[in-house]
Amino acid sequence: MQFPVTRLRRLRKNAAIRNMVRETILTRNDLIMPLFVCPGEGVENKISSMPGNSQFSVDLLVKKCRELYNKGVQSVLLFGIPETKDETGDVACQHNGIVQQAVRALKKEVPELYLIADVCNCEYTTHGHCGTIVDGDVDNDLTLDTLARQSVSLAEAGVDMVAPSDMMDGRVGAIRTALDENGFKNTPIMAYSAKYASAFYGPFREAAESAPQFGDRKTYQMDPANGDEALREVELDIQEGADIVMVKPALNYMDVIQSVKANFNVPVAAYNVSGEFSMVKAAAEKGWIDEKRIVLELLTGLKRAGADIIISYHTQDIIEEL
Ligand code: PBG
Repeated sequence: MQFPVTRLRRLRKNAAIRNMVRETILTRNDLIMPLFVCPGEGVENKISSMPGNSQFSVDLLVKKCRELYNKGVQSVLLFGIPETKDETGDVACQHNGIVQQAVRALKKEVPELYLIADVCNCEYTTHGHCGTIVDGDVDNDLTLDTLARQSVSLAEAGVDMVAPSDMMDGRVGAIRTALDENGFKNTPIMAYSAKYASAFYGPFREAAESAPQFGDRKTYQMDPANGDEALREVELDIQEGADIVMVKPALNYMDVIQSVKANFNVPVAAYNVSGEFSMVKAAAEKGWIDEKRIVLELLTGLKRAGADIIISYHTQDIIEEL
């Protein structure tokens, strides 16, 4: 009878030793909570496909953010649902735009909360695409102009960081230049660098009322089959001035997170998107899984894969466990 010399179970014997050898620890500081802001006063529109999430008018968003901050959430990512939409997303660039209003109110009422604004046109255009349409497709270079103006306008409102999610080529450089020229050289950019054309965004499009009215996003978002291309996207975004790079979605792309982390020395964010969230919620509602344990396991897995920052709708449910 041969007995093993090396016994890995020795270090699993009890909680104390497991705690000592644990390699990855999820903390409150790792998490960002996404939120949706809509027009009106006293408005909360529950998002049926994302239980526990709502569109809030500015006044209720402030209240929500104060609660989140008191629970230990230190940062939120804001998406806007505007009163009216237009062809180019110009409504996103206006001084009184919905996210600009939210940022001003939040900076006044919950000043310690770190505010990140998503920069994209799809919530603001009548056609639901992420930029200006020319000949049936999004025109890259025309779109750079609105993205740059949207970013500057959000910085003027007082946002701490901008996060472009449109996937136009050259947008990080265009935004960096515009921010710098307008006195915002210290406003960081978190680029959605490897953003895939994913079916996992389904519930978000209900939440943000941003589904494309024709076609799909495959001419600008990445093919889910590609890994090498993600590294090219990340490399270009870093060259153009991205401070943080993101992989999105997260769970089906842990290999990408790992190789981005291994190949570049900038902070990596992972976006645990709406469809990933809703699948967990649905299974938990049916009693098929233990939601809290599943969420901790999933988010810890993202950190183990190499994510320094995790954007997740689970943040509000899990923050007090950490
Ligand atoms: C806007 C944007 C999307 C998401 C974040 N920013 C939707 C999309 O590209 O269709 C998705 C987030 C989620 O599913 O949670 N471009």
